Amino acid sequence: MVQLSFKAVVATIVAAVALVDAADVMNAAGHQHRLVRRCGGKKNSTITHHHPASQGGNNGHHHGGNNGHHNGGNNGHHNGQQQGSIITAYITDWAIPSSIAWNKLDHINYAFAVPGKDGTLSQFTASQLQSVVKEAHANQKTVSLSVGGWTGSLHFSDLVLTPSSRASFAKNIVQAVNDYNLDGIDIDWEYPNSANGVACNSNNKADTANFLAFMQLLRQQLGPNKILSTAVGVQPFDDESQNPSTSLAAGWAQTVDYFNMMVYDLAGSWNPVSGANSPLAADKDDSMSVTSAVQAWSSAGIPKSKLVVGVPFYGYLAKVNQPITAATGEHVKFDTSVPQIQGDQYDTKSADPCPGATATFSGEFQYRSIVQQGVNTNSSSWTNYWDAHTSTPYAYNSKDQTFLTYDNPASLTAKAKYVAQQKLGGIMLWSLEMDDANSSLLNAIQGARH
Ligand SMILES: *[C@@H]1O[C@H](CO)[C@@H](O)[C@H](O)[C@H]1NC(C)=O
Ligand SMILES: *[C@@H]1O[C@H](CO)[C@@H](O)[C@H](O)[C@H]1NC(C)=O
Ligand SMILES: *[C@@H]1O[C@H](CO)[C@@H](O)[C@H](O)[C@H]1NC(C)=O
Repeated sequence: MVQLSFKAVVATIVAAVALVDAADVMNAAGHQHRLVRRCGGKKNSTITHHHPASQGGNNGHHHGGNNGHHNGGNNGHHNGQQQGSIITAYITDWAIPSSIAWNKLDHINYAFAVPGKDGTLSQFTASQLQSVVKEAHANQKTVSLSVGGWTGSLHFSDLVLTPSSRASFAKNIVQAVNDYNLDGIDIDWEYPNSANGVACNSNNKADTANFLAFMQLLRQQLGPNKILSTAVGVQPFDDESQNPSTSLAAGWAQTVDYFNMMVYDLAGSWNPVSGANSPLAADKDDSMSVTSAVQAWSSAGIPKSKLVVGVPFYGYLAKVNQPITAATGEHVKFDTSVPQIQGDQYDTKSADPCPGATATFSGEFQYRSIVQQGVNTNSSSWTNYWDAHTSTPYAYNSKDQTFLTYDNPASLTAKAKYVAQQKLGGIMLWSLEMDDANSSLLNAIQGARH
């Protein structure tokens, strides 16, 4: 069974425990939503400065010698079950889904544990994580704790800087794996030696090399049976000059099981013109896409079987300064005379955790809201179109003069098909609670299996 591609599940079967419905908690703590937003990140300083990733969203994943546990695609810890691909769902501490369709996914990344300056992990609800792990194991599925996130990456650079800081940080992570009976760890550093992260992140020219040394240490300490993944942007980790690496050290592929590529947040009102949040292929204005990310990471030396395509269960809403029609296509100028408007009811103002940062909306519009409001069925002044270049839908609201880029079952079916055709490592989604009541998006990505 493809679902059993992780051998690490050894938990005793226990009665499934209903998860706490924390949807209301999320509303109450709405600002945290964006505090931990993750971002695909675009290597363009023009865009970076206006990147709202500071706002909202999601962003939600190697060398060092031959550790012996990964020998060229025959990963000992996967027990020869490397064929097939996985479906990984991020769930968030602040918006745990009321139920999880375990038969439709393989693995959960629980977001986030945030590392403090001293490397201790906090900002997650221990009892809730325990419930998720228990329920996952009862369903023979696996769970990683995801460490970091958009606003949780302040200290990574310092924490991996020296052998002694790495040892002390690794100790905390190994402790968490033991304490919570985890199957793996997902490091979500946004981003090593990058100008695209939160402005007050610690940073160092040697971040990428230090990060690898840290992952190698983690692998050594966790052993070959734990799943080690990292959430990454659409371009390979930056080199010492802050350019995307064209070739990564061999240790990355030897040490890390999955690179969860965050192929979203690639267009929004931080750009001058509207475009697709998560293009399957680039069009003339969208240079980054699923296909470009696969190409870039794979030519930098990461095997396709370790590349996991991240897809969004949300879109972005913004005001535009001219009507959008089938004839204009999805690229028109944003209305920059107004601040970023609120997306759906879950979108709340938040600021980066840096001095002087301004709180703003992100414009995030979750798929469940799209369905609930009838956006996708052309009700309430909405008209939907399909962009054939990027294989994504977009919608225009003639009353509010707003533009929405999003993913729907059709666009996710296309992405899943690409994952299967290319024999990639699988598909990752951010984040599970944003799906509609029928799990329409989760259903649409089942075709990623191969
Ligand atoms: C960066 O973005 C700006 C504005 O969209 C664009 O004009 C410029 O060509 C981009 N630069 C690169 C290197 O992509
Ligand atoms: C919405 O309207 C557009 C333009 O008329 C049309 O192409 C599309 O099929 C409609 N979508 C739905 C769900 O009715
Ligand atoms: C779920 O599916 C049923 C049956 O197809 C449909 O009537 C209902 O509107 C759907 N609900 C949502 C939230 O998609």
